[in-house]
Amino acid sequence: MKKITVIGAGNVGATCANVIAHKDLCREVVMLDIKEGMAEGKALDIWQTSSINHFSTRVTGATNDYLKTKGSGIVVITSGLPRKPGMSRDDLIKTNAGIVAEAVERVIRYSPEAIIIIVTNPLDVMTYAAYKAARKDSRKVFGMAGILDTGRYKAFIANALNVSPKDIQTMLLGGHGDTMVPLPRYTSISGIPVTELLNKEEIDKIVDRTRKGGGELVNLMGTSAWYAPGAAAAQMVEAIVDDQRRVFPVCALLKSEYGQKDIYMGVPVILGANGIEEIIELKLNKDEMKMLTESANSVKASMKELDAMNLFSE
Ligand code: LAC
Repeated sequence: MKKITVIGAGNVGATCANVIAHKDLCREVVMLDIKEGMAEGKALDIWQTSSINHFSTRVTGATNDYLKTKGSGIVVITSGLPRKPGMSRDDLIKTNAGIVAEAVERVIRYSPEAIIIIVTNPLDVMTYAAYKAARKDSRKVFGMAGILDTGRYKAFIANALNVSPKDIQTMLLGGHGDTMVPLPRYTSISGIPVTELLNKEEIDKIVDRTRKGGGELVNLMGTSAWYAPGAAAAQMVEAIVDDQRRVFPVCALLKSEYGQKDIYMGVPVILGANGIEEIIELKLNKDEMKMLTESANSVKASMKELDAMNLFSE
């Protein structure tokens, strides 16, 4: 791919650009930020690791100059405020919705064909806002959260069992909030069901820690996480660039799947060159479906706040 753009050169955006460059996913990765010199500086710093880390992807930066993003095949949106201790992701709706909508509108003027990946919180609602602003096929506008949340879930299971996280397979559904739905029934360690290796109490503890995983980091650092969110977004970019058809949990627009309509939230998808190639519907049991519906209801409640802002004319 010729060009990939990352909007927002904060911790998450810069980490994402750094991983994209390390993986040599394109000829040029452009970072754009509103803060004078920030994107240029971080881009130069990353570019100066190219001979050390052996990659050829050019890394460039721009201050609010969207012309520099022209012709991007993929755009990752990370701009917006991160949460502080005591804040929920939803507390950010008012500030971040306008920022995301403006970034999407400006970036697609120069890259009308781009696939857009949203990372800004509150993730599900911001992805919906981006979809409204982009006026594109929903298979080309989606959000990153599930890879991050399953990454945390796998890390905790790896700790509990003292095994490599590489051998853990799992799925997670729902909104990117405390009601997200990790699925122990779909979790295995090299094919061995997790329920054979950990008891219910141990699994429940891991599920609970996963749900609150973002908050745990906010409390430790005073701001939200970036290494795992940035790497997770870059993994989605990689699946698209190489047309890998990876199966990931992705924040996607549901049109009837899982009994939901006109809502963005996390579901398993096949990710390839066209963006979301397919949404996979799992045969959930009653309890899992109930948790998913609760999660959807919580996303819908946040969407009402977005609707009340009247950002988009029909
Ligand atoms: C997290 C934030 C980025 O979960 O939502 O760490």
